[in-house]
Amino acid sequence: MADRSAREAGAVVDVYDVSRFASVVDVGGGSGTLLRAVRDRAPHAELTLFDLPEVVDGSDLPAVGGDFFTRVPGGADAYLLSRVLHDWDDADALRVLRTCRAAMRPDSLLLVVEAVVPERAVDDPAAVRMDLHMLVLLHGRERTVAEYATLLDAAGLHLTADVPTGAGVHVLEARPR
Ligand SMILES: C[S@@+](CC[C@H](N)C(=O)[O-])C[C@H]1O[C@@H](n2cnc3c(N)ncnc32)[C@H](O)[C@@H]1O
Repeated sequence: MADRSAREAGAVVDVYDVSRFASVVDVGGGSGTLLRAVRDRAPHAELTLFDLPEVVDGSDLPAVGGDFFTRVPGGADAYLLSRVLHDWDDADALRVLRTCRAAMRPDSLLLVVEAVVPERAVDDPAAVRMDLHMLVLLHGRERTVAEYATLLDAAGLHLTADVPTGAGVHVLEARPR
């Protein structure tokens, strides 16, 4: 998983310009691999790694411990949700998105980093395999872009861009409606 995270993080900052952000919160950021890749491109940005207290304890990054179903740090330019929503069914994924939306300013951006289920399985078999993994292991799921757009909409967010990376994940950019 650490190897996958590193590949995806590099691919995300290669295709999506994070250098314009002055503050970034990585929600469910784990060990901070993506946030370190953001730091390389935006060295002056104020960065916050947000995850469960026991996960961020001892991190070398500025970190806040908490529960993303309850509250995440407010007022950042950008919020990252990488490989988080696929852990959860629609009801819980919506709760996470609503918590993020409540923390966002009207001009904040949310970047959802996830594999996207293709309309035809043959176009991305790896995403379909991961969909089955998530179902069996966590009762989670991968989703199509249209399914993400619907979830985002229910949380008061509007999908504004879908940027594929070279590492099997997409960056789905959303703004408050
Ligand atoms: C699949 S990992 C993704 C980690 C990282 N974002 C990545 O892309 O590799 C999901 C993360 O969500 C965190 N998490 C799970 N439940 C949480 C909660 N209630 N509040 C905050 N973080 C939580 C986990 O600790 C884990 O780091």
